[in-house]
Amino acid sequence: MKKIVAYIGSRKGTKSNTYKFISQILEVTKQKFNSIEYEIITSNQLNIQPCNGCDTCFETAECPYDKYDDMGKLRQKIINSDFVIFGSPVYAHNVSGDLKIFFDRSSSWMHTMRLHGKGSMVCTTTSTSGHTTSLDYMSKIMNHYGSNLVAKYNCSVDYPEELYNEDWMRNTTELLSEEIIKSISNPQKSNSNLEYIFKSLKEIMSKCKDNNIENGELEYWKESRLIDYNTFQDFLDNEYNKN
Ligand SMILES: Cc1cc2nc3c(=O)[nH]c(=O)nc-3n(C[C@H](O)[C@H](O)[C@H](O)COP(=O)(O)O)c2cc1C
Repeated sequence: MKKIVAYIGSRKGTKSNTYKFISQILEVTKQKFNSIEYEIITSNQLNIQPCNGCDTCFETAECPYDKYDDMGKLRQKIINSDFVIFGSPVYAHNVSGDLKIFFDRSSSWMHTMRLHGKGSMVCTTTSTSGHTTSLDYMSKIMNHYGSNLVAKYNCSVDYPEELYNEDWMRNTTELLSEEIIKSISNPQKSNSNLEYIFKSLKEIMSKCKDNNIENGELEYWKESRLIDYNTFQDFLDNEYNKN
């Protein structure tokens, strides 16, 4: 059974346009590929406090506040999944504050490529505009998390009217569900963005290792064996694609 988790930075729960968009993508995916289970989590379901800037995550690769709110629980669900979707309403031409809080609290994941071995997709909904900036930003985060981004997609609510346009929704959910199914049924692939990020981080982690600098992020690079490979594709092939 493959697991998909979607986290949506909207407090409107099942009434959220972004929830409606993503739930249709996932329903179509499940109709075509029976052996998936999915969970959609909207930010109103959880208590997640903003990052307070203590820097501890960069030293220990863990957020000390995860045990005081729901962030640790959400983090674990995402780590245990095979494919992740991040969704956001566009607020003031960017992602919602709730999604940004998740990204801030997970900044250390960008140093550990913590979502390695997973496919990802980012989705927004807008009234009319602002989605390009938001989707580009979310895509960049997915690359830094080490996930293989298979699609970034916006659904406009007012102009053009897409959310309740049946033809648009049928075509879009068809296209996006195919991308999800390809990602969860095939070996994990690297790409030029992931290789660039891997190479830059490996250089920093290797310097820390050579100079015996103790650091939680370096420990993670050792435990996960990221540090042992010359390319990210080698890492994926040996740690994921062999089985
Ligand atoms: C505070 C706020 C700011 C918004 N800013 C934009 C914007 O910059 N551009 C836009 O096209 N729509 C904007 N919208 C509309 C939402 O992006 C749109 O209604 C979205 O589908 C809401 O998603 P949700 O129902 O999942 O929360 C804004 C809505 C709110 C509440």
